[in-house]
Amino acid sequence: MRLHDFALERFFARWEFDAEMLLCASDVEGWPLAELLELADEDGRRRWAELRLGYTESTGDPALRAEIASLYRHVTADDVLVFAGAEEAIFVLHNVLLGPGDHAIVVRPAYQSLAEVAAAAGAEVSRVELREADGWRLDVSEVRAALRPNSRLILVNEPHNPTGGLSDRATFDRLVELAAESGARLIVDEVYRFLEFDPADRLPAGADALETGVSIGVMSKSFGLAGLRIGWVATRDRELLKKLAAFKDYTTICNSAPSEALALIALRARDRVLARNRGIVEANLPLLDGFFARWSRTFEWVRPRGGTIGFPRLAADRPIEAFADGLVRATGVLILPGPLFGDTGNRFRVGYGRANLPAALERLERHAEQTLR
Ligand SMILES: Cc1ncc(COP(=O)(O)O)c(C=O)c1O
Repeated sequence: MRLHDFALERFFARWEFDAEMLLCASDVEGWPLAELLELADEDGRRRWAELRLGYTESTGDPALRAEIASLYRHVTADDVLVFAGAEEAIFVLHNVLLGPGDHAIVVRPAYQSLAEVAAAAGAEVSRVELREADGWRLDVSEVRAALRPNSRLILVNEPHNPTGGLSDRATFDRLVELAAESGARLIVDEVYRFLEFDPADRLPAGADALETGVSIGVMSKSFGLAGLRIGWVATRDRELLKKLAAFKDYTTICNSAPSEALALIALRARDRVLARNRGIVEANLPLLDGFFARWSRTFEWVRPRGGTIGFPRLAADRPIEAFADGLVRATGVLILPGPLFGDTGNRFRVGYGRANLPAALERLERHAEQTLR
């Protein structure tokens, strides 16, 4: 299996812990362990105090799987398989579902592994473009046009990285219908779910929409617990789950015991966890709106509809890589150049899930005054 470098992760490997402020992170501000433990119920506290650091159940702790299942309408604990982050879930899904002779449809732009691992598994991959002019919404007729007799899966990401776009309900329903009639499996990467700015915009989960549908979830983004490396696949297709579990024996075998205990605590307290996280995002977004309104001749901004990130365009005569490089070197503030997502529109990813966004944005504005006026 040959994988191209993961452009975004290589860029982060260079800068994530060197740059002073990340104005491009896709996770919400990480929870301090002590604050998370304060949210534990009695059973959670007992589990944490008595935790044994042996191997864990390879499908995931049953109590954790039950709590994950409660995020869905039609999913039970036995329809959930826990992984080391969403990244492992993506890797295993593609390797189990795809091989030479298969075809996969994946949106673009997208988190690189969603298409990269599919191709590395031997499948032909068609990309369906999301466009700024459509508010970054999916055009289902383009998915239909991309379908082939050997299409095994249609993979979308709602809310979307890097644009913060979110399909409306009618569009999603059409996509579900199309998947059902075509026989291609619908996979929805839902790692930013629960951070829709208008909760009425929350889409049904892939695992709820279709018996064979797949939801990919994670503790990293909306829940602000990326360091746990706990993600999952939810699907009512038990045969698929069995195959995924058998593949996982060759990747991580089982999950980290402390991480499972902490994920359980967080999910049981999810109302408070999400309220804190939503508070950060809701305080930051208006600051970005203000910045982009003041700089409307220099930056183009499609306001995201969910998640922690957006994908503005630098409309000045300056390549985004050069601007981003100058910004981080002069101010310590990191943005992500769009070409890391294969974008050629001079865009960059901005993240608003971190508590220091006000200070980072001030530095960006000062730098823009000095270099773009
Ligand atoms: C759309 C999407 N899917 C999956 C992942 C992987 O999540 P994790 O790093 O928590 O495994 C990311 C991370 O940025 C993402 O943006």
